[in-house]
Amino acid sequence: MLFRQLFDQDSCSYTYLLARDYGGEAILIDPVLCKVDQYMKLLKEMRLKLVKVVDTHVHADHITAAPVLRDRTRCITVMGEQSSVDSVSQRISDGEIIAIDGVSLTALYTPGHTDDSYCFLMPDRVFTGDTLLIRGTGRTDFQGGSASEEYDSIISKLLTLPDDTLVFPGHDYKGDTVSTIGEEKQHNPRLQVEGKAAFIAVMENLNLANPKMMDVAIPANQQVAMVQQEIDEQGWSFSAAKLRDLLATDGALLVDLREDAEREKCGYIESSVNIQYNNIDDALAENGVLKVLAKGTQKRLVFYCAYGERSAMALLAARETGIECFHLKGGMAAWSHR
Ligand SMILES: [Fe+2]
Repeated sequence: MLFRQLFDQDSCSYTYLLARDYGGEAILIDPVLCKVDQYMKLLKEMRLKLVKVVDTHVHADHITAAPVLRDRTRCITVMGEQSSVDSVSQRISDGEIIAIDGVSLTALYTPGHTDDSYCFLMPDRVFTGDTLLIRGTGRTDFQGGSASEEYDSIISKLLTLPDDTLVFPGHDYKGDTVSTIGEEKQHNPRLQVEGKAAFIAVMENLNLANPKMMDVAIPANQQVAMVQQEIDEQGWSFSAAKLRDLLATDGALLVDLREDAEREKCGYIESSVNIQYNNIDDALAENGVLKVLAKGTQKRLVFYCAYGERSAMALLAARETGIECFHLKGGMAAWSHR
């Protein structure tokens, strides 16, 4: 596996790049806006195709690079279902898997630092965001934070992992890069307390100043949805009502771009074909499944996904190859919201 721990010195944030091997798919955890060029260069040098970008939570101290990376690479953005953002491409909940070729992360919902905080688990390591830091824990005094919930998240979810599990945090202010669950159990001063009440007392008396970028970063990080103005203006997007009309006259051939787990969890529109967004390049190649589908039908080809971002990006990619197609604006969320 390829693994890179990248650092932003302004916010002391860590960003993680994971991939199976050179030339394969890649995922980034918690990328920082001002480092986009560095990520793009590294991806190019390692011949990696960025397919997913994940934020552990809505950050208060730096602006996420997720939407810019999505717009530059057509990767998808992923956050927890609790995050108060306008939209991401895919949302996950506790226990769900975020997978790319050769890398699989299990999402652990760990509220406390914020009410939308997640950690991401691999067999030998856990990416702890701002929930568990090296010899510290994330502050809990804004964004729906709760010392009580952070205690529960750390004690019942993180500290029950094997002691040799590597801990890669979202920040470090002292120059540490990695720890283990066992080391944190033994040496993290915030965890050497007599129970939850004592932990809460410590957290409630930290008296920290607000992060200097907070007033800029939080609103920026909440407005990360893909801008689809051009697609709308061209008449390439359908509302759920319009799509229902088209289906009533058998005028649409639907392509569901979501992953199996999303289809199982949220259902799907009858008679749709499933081509996962991840495979869109192959599907659009000469004699690829989408090329063949588009040639063989008189119906409107309509992409849909969870929130309308993957479908918008698939639409752009398909139109670049000459396929006339449309998408369901707002995805299954709009379809189900009658
Ligand atoms: Fe944070």
